[in-house]
Amino acid sequence: MPRAPEPKTLAELKEIVGSGGWLDTPADIAPLLTDHRRLYQGASPLVLLPRSASEVAAILAICNAREVAVVPQGGNTSYCGAATPDASGTQIVLAMRRMNRVRSIDAANYSMIAEAGVTLAGVQAAAREASRLFPLSLGSEGTAQIGGNLSTNAGGTAVLRFGMMRDLVFGLEVVLADGRVIPGLTSLRKDNTGYDIKSLFIGAEGTLGIITAASLKLFALPRDVVTALIGVPSVQRALDLLVRLRDAAGDQVTGFEIMPQRAVELCVEHIEGVANPLTQQAPWYVLAELSSPNAGQGLNDLLTAQLESAAGDGVVIDALIANSIAQAQAMWKLREGIAAAQTRHGQSLKHDISVPTTALPALIERGTKLAEKLVPDGEVISYGHLGDGNLHFNVSQRRGADAKAFLARKAVLEEAMFDLVGELGGSFSAEHGIGQLRAPQLAKRANAAELAVMHSIKKALDPNGILNPGKVLL
Ligand code: MLT
Ligand code: ZN
Repeated sequence: MPRAPEPKTLAELKEIVGSGGWLDTPADIAPLLTDHRRLYQGASPLVLLPRSASEVAAILAICNAREVAVVPQGGNTSYCGAATPDASGTQIVLAMRRMNRVRSIDAANYSMIAEAGVTLAGVQAAAREASRLFPLSLGSEGTAQIGGNLSTNAGGTAVLRFGMMRDLVFGLEVVLADGRVIPGLTSLRKDNTGYDIKSLFIGAEGTLGIITAASLKLFALPRDVVTALIGVPSVQRALDLLVRLRDAAGDQVTGFEIMPQRAVELCVEHIEGVANPLTQQAPWYVLAELSSPNAGQGLNDLLTAQLESAAGDGVVIDALIANSIAQAQAMWKLREGIAAAQTRHGQSLKHDISVPTTALPALIERGTKLAEKLVPDGEVISYGHLGDGNLHFNVSQRRGADAKAFLARKAVLEEAMFDLVGELGGSFSAEHGIGQLRAPQLAKRANAAELAVMHSIKKALDPNGILNPGKVLL
């Protein structure tokens, strides 16, 4: 069991990072003690801002020896409270923002080595400068850091083509709980030397080791990109359209998002400069992106022909293909503004779930009925990454509804939704991770043998339980 750090330990930790490398006044550390959704309020005696893996190693060696808990934090954009310390005031926060160098790029090997504290947007920009693509893309990319993306196995909007963060990694530099460093920054496409150790740390949310740098996979830069906003009559029709586009364009379908009419209305109402550019209203909207490294691929013609034939078959109600980068960006703003629009609208109950794409219509239909019954004060705003089967099944507080009574329905709706997801062969945590929010669900719903393996791994790598206690495993 971790314990409160003694003043002597705090002084030694400060010495490791030197002046400018730590924060301890309440005003300075306050922003790091609460999460993005303001679900949790933690406390901490000290925030450390290491600059190198060897500083992290020295910090962990001391914390492990003295049994002091350490909570790693990246851009602090977790939806599950994964980077927030508990309220005991005994846990040290390790903020990675000063480890923000892109160490190297090997454009011909399509690889980059970046430190944990580089923002996702920074990684994307560095790749672009080398005429390469780093494809992970998500709403909080300007703030979220690559170390957090790795630690939560982040997803986003390009997963149907490029996979999740786990699929975009060659190797990791990781500091273990006792301060030993795994210097695994290889850039190899083939490497069968024993167990795939790096994979353990991806999605472990800092509970098994601290990721300090990563060797990332890069791709050819897209040079022909076409983006469209498409009104469709139903979720099933959206899936039909996805299959048509994949049959016609294969891997060139790089984005396929869905949102209901109500989500579009909320976004237009709450986010400045957002408008629905379609002339005809539709119950559901798809944001589709096709892209190819070949500038002359003719994706605009391909998409136009597909949309025309889909409209002729009743699959599409209305569609607009962006005729400029600005128009494409405006379409993405309409999709990516939904989470912020919901926050501005009032309280919401969130479920980050996934099922095989073919089960999405049933999930939405049955989930909506459950929500209507169990949360009469709410309205369902279910949207997300249709192309990979990940739905953000969110329920927003209706205008004028009592927030406390609305929030009191959270547990009962969650149980019913997660039971439904299980029945449909899905996951109760698709891309936002476990953190503290979903740890009780993992303990309850994970397969017993799998859970036992997870606990054995945790015990082997962090016997004193100092790494991000209370997250993932209870
Ligand atoms: C999104 O795709 O917009 C995000 O993952 C956030 C969410 O709405 O829950
Ligand atoms: Zn998402």
